[in-house]
Formats: sequence, C-alpha cells, structure tokens
Amino acid sequence: MCAPSPGLRRVMALLAAALVSAAAWEEQEEQGVQYGQVGADVVLSCAGGAARSGVQWRREGAAGLPEGCLLRETDLLLPQAQLAMGGPYSCHDGTGQLLRSISLRLGYLPGVPSVSCRASDYENFSCSWTPSVETLLPTRYITTYRKKSLMGDERRRPQSSQAGPCVQDPARPHTCTVHQCEFWSSYRLNVTEVNPLGSRFRLLDVTMQAIIKPDPPEGLVVEPVPSAPRRLQVRWRYPASWPRELHFQLKFRLQYRPVAHSSWSVVETVNLSEVITDAFTGLEHVVQVSAKDFLDAGNWSEWSTEAWATPGPGLTSAPGDEATTEAGLECPAEEPSLAPNPEPVDGSDPTEKVTILVSLGVFAFFILAAALGIAVAVWLRERRPSKDESKKHNFLAAAVHVRTLPKAQIL
Ligand SMILES: *[C@@H]1O[C@H](CO)[C@@H](O)[C@H](O)[C@H]1NC(C)=O
Ligand SMILES: *[C@@H]1O[C@H](CO)[C@@H](O)[C@H](O)[C@H]1NC(C)=O
Repeated sequence: MCAPSPGLRRVMALLAAALVSAAAWEEQEEQGVQYGQVGADVVLSCAGGAARSGVQWRREGAAGLPEGCLLRETDLLLPQAQLAMGGPYSCHDGTGQLLRSISLRLGYLPGVPSVSCRASDYENFSCSWTPSVETLLPTRYITTYRKKSLMGDERRRPQSSQAGPCVQDPARPHTCTVHQCEFWSSYRLNVTEVNPLGSRFRLLDVTMQAIIKPDPPEGLVVEPVPSAPRRLQVRWRYPASWPRELHFQLKFRLQYRPVAHSSWSVVETVNLSEVITDAFTGLEHVVQVSAKDFLDAGNWSEWSTEAWATPGPGLTSAPGDEATTEAGLECPAEEPSLAPNPEPVDGSDPTEKVTILVSLGVFAFFILAAALGIAVAVWLRERRPSKDESKKHNFLAAAVHVRTLPKAQIL
C-alpha cells in the first residue's frame, strides 16, 4: 500500500509548488512572453490595436522584421517560424506610441521521456527519466502511479486499484519516489512531460522484485589472520538504505584477487563476514563485496569500495619462542622469491618419499599381525566353549547392572 498519510504534507507542498510554477508560466505570458512552436505558424497580436489604424510592428535589436512575415490587420504572422525568429517584438500605433511588447520564445513540443526505475530497499522505489527532446522551453513533469491489484483482487474489485503521486524532490531533479509499496504488487507509472506547447507521457510497469537493486554493502574491512599466512578475514555491514528485517535479508558475494593479478575469485555468503582461505602469503590483495536480495529477486548491487590487506607472514603456532622468531626472520627472505610464482611448488624430496614408504610397510605389518592374532583367538574360543560360557554371562550381567544403575538413580 502506498499510503499517502506520512508524506501527505510533503505532497501537498509539492502540488502547491507545481501550481505556483504553472501560475508562473501564465504570469510570464501575461508579462508579455509568448511561446511558439518551431516550424508552426505563429501569430503575434497587438492588443488594443484593432480599433486603430497604422499599426506598426518592430523587432528590437534586429535590423527589421523577419523575412516572410505577414501583417494581417493588426496581427503579425510568422509562417513556419524559425528558431531565429524568437526575441522581443513590439507594436506601435501611427504616432509611434508603444501598444504592446511581446517576448517570443520558440521551442519544441515535449517528446516521450525515457524512464527507468530502481528500488534500493524493499519498500520504496525511485524512477528517473531523461527527456527525449531538447525543447528549449520551461518544462515540468507530472509523475503518478497506479497500483495494479493482484489477480484475485482484480476480479473482485476491478477499479479499486490505488493511485497517487510519485513524489518529486526538488533536490533531485528528474527523479521521483513511490513510498511504502508492496513487494509483490505491480505498479504502473506515468511520467508526463509538460511545457507551454503541450505534453507527452510515458507509462512503465514496475514490480519491486524485478527492479530491486540494493546499495553496495558498507564498512568493508579486510585483515590478515594471525598465524594463518593464507587467510584474510573480511567483514562488512548492510547498506544504510536497507533496514534489517526478517523477511527481507540480503545475501552477499565477495570478490578478491592479489593486486598484481587481473582475475577475481568470487565466493557467496549469507553472513556479514567471511574468511578467505586461499590468499597468497605476502601479496597485497584487493577485496570488494556486493549484495542482493536473499531470495534472488532483482539485481546484484554495485561493488562496494575496495579494501586492501596483505596476508601476514604467518607466525607459526610452534611451541617454543625460538621457533616463532625463526619464522619471523625467515619469511621476509623467502617471500620475494615466491612472489612472481605464487602457485604452490611441489617441494617433496626423495628421502621423504622413502620414509613414507617404510612407514606404510610397517603399518601394513602390524595390521596383518593383529588380524592373525584375532583369528587365533577366535579359533581357540571355538575349541573350548564350555569353560568360557559362565564367565561371559557374569561379565554381561555386570555390564547390564552398570548400565541400569544410573537410570535407577535418576528415577
Ligand atoms: C521507505 O521510505 C521511507 C520514507 O523515506 C523511509 O522512512 C523508510 O525507511 C523506507 N523504507 C525502507 C525499507 O528503507
Ligand atoms: C498520464 O498522466 C497525465 C498527466 O496527469 C494524464 O494526462 C494522462 O492521461 C495519463 N495517462 C494515462 C494513460 O493514465
């Protein structure tokens, strides 16, 4: 529902402003401004000249009246007026006394404006437009919307759809906002361009879930993770324009790369923080984040501003203080050689492989020995069943007793 109540005062103010500006046009016309269309016939009439004879037209600041102009009674006719014919005119009686002065402003009819709409939160949407014709004339816009009811509603009450102004803010020309909309409803927007010669309108059907595009997340911070040389901790906040609400959450995607590389890695998350686990040690990384409606409606936001961080040298979690200092000393020397080729190198040497093989052999031997032992034990038990049975029962009884005891205590 686009309820008019909270913005009513504002709407009234804007309507009043619109009326004032409309009145201003009329006033201007009264004060001697006349608007005309380029290419059309324009008639300048000399008020009070009808009764008099010898009416004379002059054009101020010009050598004479434009070529092709005609005098019809006391009117001056400009057939197929050209832009250059604009300017101040005056008519005089036979004695040269001024009867009327007119400032002629020539221009064009409005064109159909092109309009696009965007919602940066889940309740309000804004539309902006660009005129398709440079009319050279004072122009204003009438912006309204009509809510198209949901299908069920429409059958019941076909003409009941709500309508109201798309509110224009003087601080943001060529933009208007529809407040407190329903996310799942459809709206028909009417942007009408009006000038003294006429008006043209553009209609646009808008649904919130199609045009929603959050603002980029804010407060992006990237930090190295102590003792993790390939990790970066990233966190950010919801955009201020998106109040947090249970049913309208955002999801995020993160893009990051070493500054010297050109291709981004991207991860998606629903959290407000993320740990990058495959950063390159010692290389400065650039990170950005963008947001989208949690249920995938609309579009991804623009990318946020960039943030930079370099994964630390990695204070290894070795026990001794010595090891820590050693790692600290080692890393700066090692890094430059790694930098041009940050891909992990296969650094295994032959002795290492031999060690692994030997350990595997020893392990296999123990497994075999254990299996053999179990087989022997089973065989022995099969051979002497009578002797073991009583023992087994006693053991089981004890086990059952132990297990039931705590329950009894609880009860
Ligand atoms: C919609 O706009 C109104 C008025 O500007 C504002 O108070 C409200 O917080 C906005 N809604 C959301 C979800 O941002
Ligand atoms: C659009 O708005 C203008 C100005 O209010 C109006 O004259 C015109 O009829 C409207 N068009 C439609 C289709 O509603």
